[in-house]
Amino acid sequence: MNFDNINNRYLAAAFCIVLYLMLCGWVVWREWKKRRLAAKAAAALTPAMAGTSSWLVAYASQTGNAEQLAWQTARTLHTAGIPARISPLSQLNADDLQQCERALFITSTYGEGDPPDNATLFARKVMSTSLNLSQLHYGVLALGDREYRNFCGFGRNLDAWLQAQGGQSLFPRIDVSNSDAAALEQWRHQLSHVAGTDDLPDWQAPAYEHWRLAARQHLNPGSAGNPVFHIELEPQPGKPLPAWQAGDLVQILAPADRERPREYSIASIPGDGRIHLLVRQERHEDGTLGVASGWLSAQAELNAQIELRIHPHQNFRLEGNAGRPLILIGNGTGLAGLRAHLKARIEQQVSRNWLIFGERNAAHDAYYQDELAAWQAQGMLRVDRVFSRDQPERRYVQDQLRDAANTVLEWINNDAAIYVCGSLEGMASSVEATLVDIIGTEGVERLIEAGRYRRDVY
Ligand SMILES: Cc1cc2nc3c(=O)[nH]c(=O)nc-3n(C[C@H](O)[C@H](O)[C@H](O)COP(=O)(O)O)c2cc1C
Repeated sequence: MNFDNINNRYLAAAFCIVLYLMLCGWVVWREWKKRRLAAKAAAALTPAMAGTSSWLVAYASQTGNAEQLAWQTARTLHTAGIPARISPLSQLNADDLQQCERALFITSTYGEGDPPDNATLFARKVMSTSLNLSQLHYGVLALGDREYRNFCGFGRNLDAWLQAQGGQSLFPRIDVSNSDAAALEQWRHQLSHVAGTDDLPDWQAPAYEHWRLAARQHLNPGSAGNPVFHIELEPQPGKPLPAWQAGDLVQILAPADRERPREYSIASIPGDGRIHLLVRQERHEDGTLGVASGWLSAQAELNAQIELRIHPHQNFRLEGNAGRPLILIGNGTGLAGLRAHLKARIEQQVSRNWLIFGERNAAHDAYYQDELAAWQAQGMLRVDRVFSRDQPERRYVQDQLRDAANTVLEWINNDAAIYVCGSLEGMASSVEATLVDIIGTEGVERLIEAGRYRRDVY
């Protein structure tokens, strides 16, 4: 027997075991460190707590731009060693503002210069009062679009109100039209100034990905309205399907205007393997097609490359409402966002869904009729369709809502959430007025506060 050989083998085996244990230890230590760093970062950016001396970053956002910038701002301050806490405006009251010494407000504007939905109550309840905010040093980043008459209307109102309460602005309000990079750079510059550093990292917008136009179907031949298309997009071969949630949007860059992305609600869920869109082809008075709708519905050939990025839309996701009954209300291409929610609910086997959908004529505009009928037959869905031009008097979703007021009340009392998707003027505002008639202004406010009334309107 060769003892030297045996000893060598034992030594080699022992060496391997020690090496393996060291490797395991290193992996465990690295995971622990990663988690500790993540926990530290999250703790520094937790929701606002009254009485702490950190900077407050408050946002009001409808489709997520202001929210995303608020997180970026808070992270930037944190990187510069400044503790920051983040909060939607809706969760702030007069006391919070009176106890705060340094705040950055990031807000968008909707409707006719109105606040986004998640700031309606703040505007109504807090901005209607007089406060002494002389201790508050603040900055405002107002998001909007110059094409609207009330450009950055809510950001301007908030700034004027803060000033009228004695708040001291750290720098002039920065107005941003359509995510304009120069204005955002100005904000980043002001942040480095207040943070006392000049080496803040650049902010980069998420990149666009190349997708493929995989299918297109004209859904409403003969319609009195403009043509509507069901469109399917797929990542380029070899690229994985990214994650998104029902309620999210996409931003599309059309070759004719690569500066201004256009947003569409996603009409599918990742389980479908593709992004579906429901796109109405816009036609201007001079006969030309809308930039993005024309590109997607007519000019892009099948298999063409489409520049796309997913835009998470927290406000319109299910989130806390996943277990609740859902009333989904929409018109026209607003069915897109509602369809994604229905698909998600059916995938989860949640059956308390009620869709109230409006269009012009049943003969031409009943999009996804077979699919909806199948879900109905499976007991997963109640559908009320309202076709405005199928009877002598015009009839819309708000009329159906009013006629079904008792059932609406019953669903709301059973904890239902309401999701509205489609046109702001006409539909969404009339739906809200009808809800006020059914459950009162305070009833609607309670739904908003509880996150049970959400809108994706345009
Ligand atoms: C239906 C609708 C109405 C809008 N109204 C205005 C407006 O009156 N004034 C304005 O400056 N921007 C308006 N905008 C543009 C938004 O404020 C802008 O897109 C902003 O970046 C959205 O930010 P958010 O995702 O945080 O809500 C409107 C956008 C939509 C979709």
